[in-house]
Amino acid sequence: MYILGIESSCDETAAAIVSDRKEILSNVIYSQIEEHKPYSGVVPEVAARAHLEKIDVVVKKALAYANLSLGDVNAIAGTCGPGLIGGVIVGATFAKSLAFAKKVPFIAVNHIEAHALSVRLTEEVEFPYLLILASGGHCQICIVHDIDNFQILGRTLDDSVGESFDKVSKLLGFGYPGGPIIEKLYHEGDSEKFSLPRPMCSKGNCDFSFSGLKTAVLNASKKCNSLQDKKDLAASFQKTVAEIMSFKMQQALNFCFDQKIKINAAVISGGVAANLVIRRSLKETCDSVSRSTIPFFVPPVKFCTDNGAMIAWLGVEKFKRNQVNSLDFHPRPRWPLSENFQKIMRAREKVQ
Ligand code: KG4
Ligand code: ZN
Repeated sequence: MYILGIESSCDETAAAIVSDRKEILSNVIYSQIEEHKPYSGVVPEVAARAHLEKIDVVVKKALAYANLSLGDVNAIAGTCGPGLIGGVIVGATFAKSLAFAKKVPFIAVNHIEAHALSVRLTEEVEFPYLLILASGGHCQICIVHDIDNFQILGRTLDDSVGESFDKVSKLLGFGYPGGPIIEKLYHEGDSEKFSLPRPMCSKGNCDFSFSGLKTAVLNASKKCNSLQDKKDLAASFQKTVAEIMSFKMQQALNFCFDQKIKINAAVISGGVAANLVIRRSLKETCDSVSRSTIPFFVPPVKFCTDNGAMIAWLGVEKFKRNQVNSLDFHPRPRWPLSENFQKIMRAREKVQ
């Protein structure tokens, strides 16, 4: 079975073909970084226009690299949210139109859920697992019990972690996209030079807050006299974020142990999971807190940031369970993960 996945919720136009045997036949990504660079961040109107211009080429390439025609595809999965509404409408409408024309099922994919399940495309990870979902728009810790069944343990109260990388890079004058730039600067700077706060880390819960850290970087930047000072500040920020993420993973693992929730793995996914400093720190934390009884997984770097393969893969998971959607499914710029978990819990309470 072959599923075509189409992604257009932020600044990447992407399409991929994935089979139910986890073969990634193609994975084409057109990045809009150059379009957004002059503005040091994603401009929604620019993004929507660029998706519209590139989507047909990207999908054609995905089919060509897979050596398939549209007639060979069993279903078409498209991101329907959450994300920038202009881009989401472009991708979702394109996916629905192809499904209509080829008379194959359409699968409406939640972009965050696709990040959350992306690890299952490349690794053997069984439900339930603990997940830190860290992207440009989201930062939450949850237990993934199943498809569409997410128990949220904590989330950010303000900025997402990816957003804080982007804002800190911008305020230090290093540009966009912030995550990979700051990660590189970590190796060029002294991460011990600045002592930065770790908001919410005196609290034993799984919530995050990054705006105070960002303000602390802003204040410290006013005392920077040289480029090297700024690199040291970027490096200190990177180190502090890794410490915060590790602390919160520790809290979440402790919660699972205390509540006797048996998890099969600990995972980080989303764009920030591409960060090797954070990956290393989380693995060490997971190994030490669980005494190496819980394996730590992270998708390959190219499947952490936005891509079509994760959309196609969630399409595979849903298609196997006959979870397809009607063509009048409306794009949802806001689409929380926890909706179904709450319904499941209410239904259980009624039964008991
Ligand atoms: O998942 P993603 O591609 O898009 C959203 O769904 O938001 O995540 C994009 C975010 C951006 O904020 C970007 O700066 C961050 O992921 N990011 C990174 C790295 N690569 C991308 N953050 C830290 N380190 C990286 N290497
Ligand atoms: Zn994403």
